Amino acid sequence: MVAGWEWDETLFAGTAAHYRRGRLPYAPGLADALAGILGLDGHGRLVDVGCGPGILALALAPLFREVVGVDPDAEMIAEARREAGARGVTGKARWVRIRAEELPAGLGRFTVATFGQSFHWMDRERVAAITWDMLETGGALVHISDLKTGTLTAEGLPLPAVPGAAIEELVKRWLGPVRRAGRGVLPRGTPDGEAAVLARAGFSGPRRHVVPGGQVIERTVDDVVAGVFSMSFSAPRLFGTRRADFEADLRRLLRDASASGRFSARLPSTEVFVWGKDTRYDGP
Ligand SMILES: C[S@@+](CC[C@H](N)C(=O)[O-])C[C@H]1O[C@@H](n2cnc3c(N)ncnc32)[C@H](O)[C@@H]1O
Repeated sequence: MVAGWEWDETLFAGTAAHYRRGRLPYAPGLADALAGILGLDGHGRLVDVGCGPGILALALAPLFREVVGVDPDAEMIAEARREAGARGVTGKARWVRIRAEELPAGLGRFTVATFGQSFHWMDRERVAAITWDMLETGGALVHISDLKTGTLTAEGLPLPAVPGAAIEELVKRWLGPVRRAGRGVLPRGTPDGEAAVLARAGFSGPRRHVVPGGQVIERTVDDVVAGVFSMSFSAPRLFGTRRADFEADLRRLLRDASASGRFSARLPSTEVFVWGKDTRYDGP
């Protein structure tokens, strides 16, 4: 995927336990928006590729007959399965520990495939082609992520904002200036330009939708620490035996930024690109 970087199974190792607590949720209207956009009526099948702890698959489960979450990280899959049990949706949710590149893995045909902030970690050309074959004609590939553009103003927040820039600096002091990713580094970050990849695979579109964020939520020091340990570039294992020392530094920084240990954050908007599988002419 990225020149000079190779995927390995430690990419998200140790992050699953921190994920649901640490990551800001997608915009609250996401499931309703997708139900409307895709005309979901509880009958189709969803495959959520790179499902992590099942955030999307479980949010969308009421809209499908069956949801299948796929992820190579064993702890993510365990967390998704545990949460599905807690929500009483074990009957219609299935979790499969494989890389997207190993699909279709006999999982059958799907109405919708979602990729929530996961496609950039994959061999995108290959996964796009596999997903095309797994979707029913008339099905949709849905790319979902936090909206990166637009400013999330700290103005008017009732509590101090989470000191994002200072946290980033601290991580760099501990792990070096170049972004870490599994056993490798990503000097130029993950790739963008997935539109060209998906168009080449035969998908039509995309239709773009923005589900509005901006809602203010409260975050504790523990939430923010979990957020840092939920990221691939500051995953717990990257700190090795000095993880507790890093965490102590991080907690000090957060206490300095908010004596009460409480912060305000605004939810980002969620950006959705819907790609259609109509028909593809592969030529003679
Ligand atoms: C940022 S998390 C997103 C989790 C979830 N989709 C969400 O929206 O909250 C990225 C996920 O992609 C998974 N992932 C990374 N490389 C993958 C691959 N080659 N195939 C499938 N999943 C992969 C990771 O294990 C991780 O759980």
